[in-house]
Amino acid sequence: MSPSLSPPNRQLVDILSQAQGEPVSGRLIGRALSISRAAVWKRVESLRKSGFHIESIPRQGYVLVAEPDTPSAQAVALELNQETLSDGLFVEDKFHFFTTLDSTNEKAGALARGGALDGTVVVADHQSRGKGRLGRVWDSPAGVNLYFSLILRPTIEPRFAAQLTLLTGLALAETVSSFGADSVEIKWPNDLLLGGKKLAGILTEMAVEESRIQFVVVGVGVNVNVALADLAPEVSGIAATLWDHLKKKVKRSAFLADFLNRFRVWYRHYLADGFAPIRTTWLQRSRIAGRRVQVNLVADSFTAFAVDLDSEGFLIVKKEESGQETRVLAGDVMLLDASDCSS
Ligand code: BTN
Repeated sequence: MSPSLSPPNRQLVDILSQAQGEPVSGRLIGRALSISRAAVWKRVESLRKSGFHIESIPRQGYVLVAEPDTPSAQAVALELNQETLSDGLFVEDKFHFFTTLDSTNEKAGALARGGALDGTVVVADHQSRGKGRLGRVWDSPAGVNLYFSLILRPTIEPRFAAQLTLLTGLALAETVSSFGADSVEIKWPNDLLLGGKKLAGILTEMAVEESRIQFVVVGVGVNVNVALADLAPEVSGIAATLWDHLKKKVKRSAFLADFLNRFRVWYRHYLADGFAPIRTTWLQRSRIAGRRVQVNLVADSFTAFAVDLDSEGFLIVKKEESGQETRVLAGDVMLLDASDCSS
């Protein structure tokens, strides 16, 4: 499950965790990493600052007692794979972690207006006014879930920005699957579902000037280690959480790093080859084609069968009553059952 971990600090953590609670001397670690004992001590100190609980036992060495659960820039960077590290899109210097924010999307927007680079990541352990789509609130309790926003500066036309929501959903579904919840489904345009209930949501916002994208903020909220009972009563009935599904805790920093690793691959693919490869994989993963759906638009709502995703990322549906095909540009789509379009 863990991506390839090569930076020196990761090697130190690996040496300590392989010792399974037994002390490892600074001399031994120094020899393994070809650094001095003083340098070992410095690295231990920096890991402690990132939340690793490492004890020093006099004349015996260092013991790893616990790895941090609250994600930090360093804890996430330690879990990035070699390809991500050498790409430069997501690097530790561009990670901003906060104990609490009103909304990571708001903060990311402010940072982007101040010039923050493509690949900046804003993470909060808690949000006081987490934003959902269509003016909804995203319940964001502290210490348990992931709330983060990516700042992107893609050279694409503004009308294609919604494709980034689909790309994000795809990368996120792959991560959720790789952490053991392989029944995860993607629901157009911005939800991940487990057992038909909402596990994660994506809120994409952008700033455009003279028909050019200045920046896009892709905000992601995932119910990770929260118990359903601890979510707000108005969402606990319609939400899913990894904790409830897997019956075990997920390390949030590893989950976020895994997502960034996968997102980077799709994002580069998208910038080089366009939406077509995303569309194909998205369709396979979402299994939406043929499903009966309820479409809720601002001024209209109807039942239909999902037919396809068009080349721009909009959903094509066939209205149940009239048989007429229509393109859903914005709105809410609820999956009703698994009947086939052709039946
Ligand atoms: C939705 O499904 O309605 C979208 C939910 C998006 C929630 C995330 S949490 C991190 C980021 N910051 C916000 O304020 N919202 C998004």
